[in-house]
Amino acid sequence: MFDGDVRGLVVVGSQWGDEGKGKIVDVLARDADWIARYQGGANAGHTVRVGEDEFILHQIPSGILYAGKRCVLGNGMVLDPAGLFDELDGLMERGYEDAEERIYVSSRAQLVLPIHKLLDRAEEESRGADRIGTTGRGIGAAYTDKVARVGIRVGDLAAPDRLKEQIDAAAERARKRLQLLGSDLEVDGERLFDETMSGAERLLAMSTDVGAVLKRALDRDERVLLEGAQGTMLDVDHGTYPYVTSSNTTAGAAATGVGLGPTDVDAVLGVVKAYTTRVGAGPLPTELPEEEAARLRELGAEYGATTGRPRRTGWFDAAVVRYAGRINGLTALAVSKLDVLDGLPEVKLGVGYRLGGERLDEFPADLTTLCEMEPIYEAMPGWQASTAEARRVADLPAAARAYLDRIAELTGRPIRYISVGTRRKQIIDVEA
Ligand code: IMP
Ligand code: MG
Repeated sequence: MFDGDVRGLVVVGSQWGDEGKGKIVDVLARDADWIARYQGGANAGHTVRVGEDEFILHQIPSGILYAGKRCVLGNGMVLDPAGLFDELDGLMERGYEDAEERIYVSSRAQLVLPIHKLLDRAEEESRGADRIGTTGRGIGAAYTDKVARVGIRVGDLAAPDRLKEQIDAAAERARKRLQLLGSDLEVDGERLFDETMSGAERLLAMSTDVGAVLKRALDRDERVLLEGAQGTMLDVDHGTYPYVTSSNTTAGAAATGVGLGPTDVDAVLGVVKAYTTRVGAGPLPTELPEEEAARLRELGAEYGATTGRPRRTGWFDAAVVRYAGRINGLTALAVSKLDVLDGLPEVKLGVGYRLGGERLDEFPADLTTLCEMEPIYEAMPGWQASTAEARRVADLPAAARAYLDRIAELTGRPIRYISVGTRRKQIIDVEA
């Protein structure tokens, strides 16, 4: 994807997250100098396999697994310092000794405090049957504080006196909110301050103005990969609201989330699974009945990397990806986990929706429509042959090629990559 003049590349999930971005980013990172996260936090879970080793990363971009690559945690993120240190220590123990020197944390990034996790859980409980099914990582509560202009940022750690006041106020707010939610959880302001300060020196040593750093890199003709977390349909504006995460996950947020301008982005790659999954509650138009869903779940090992929850599964929804194409300005698609469909006699594609006899032209915004509309399917013959060894499009069975061609046609986006397994080499670059 870093062809020709492409220097700034966004990789974005184009379904409900877990599209296999970790693997695609890992492969593309080889050609990048910088890999940056622009939103979300420890709610993400990227699984990357290197040889026989498996890594699950929540906050650090998977580019860290390549020697010499630099990784950025952008201002658009909500950072959990303790979790970040755990990930770093884990990497260092497993031979990535210089990992910490290769990480650049935005001094403008928001901190996730332990109270945010308490609030996340208490808010969820109070929703009863309308639970969103959050990851419990404090994401929504931290973004709430950011937008309410009471959040604590990485740079604030440099001024302990002011920080003490900020933390006291945050603790008081959390106490009131928890009480209102009927929770009996306690908040200890002193302890919160001590915990926050305990990682201050280490975090400040990694922190900088990442927008300036990345702009200088681009000016030197270096390549920057901007890695999205979650997926388009979990975007707080464009997703299946209110069953979404609390950030803009889509490509438009990539520039804002690291401090670059939109004209610094030259290409946008949308990652999609060859079928659809979702973890957590909310509309999933092409969801399969549990019996069939379970088969796809087992074939694809579809369990959440962060929470271990079983993922809901369904057929590929071309209407979702067509929508994601527009919202993200996708220049190409990467289709992952094609091999998961290898054994099926028949595959189906969602091509649009119907509501009360009428066909919907655009992906709807309102929850009632989202819940009531019915997908329209197209069936195609399966290929019932292994794709795991395919390294060129020509190696794929004809029925698999026809399936991919139909995806490109229905979504209006060209397919650039096809992933056929978890290993680094199990990928087809259509233009190679
Ligand atoms: P939150 O981001 O923890 O607030 O969760 C909000 C919704 O987004 C829930 O449905 C989560 O399951 C979902 N979600 C959050 N992060 C991810 C992710 O990385 N992959 C897939 N789903 C996610
Ligand atoms: Mg994931």
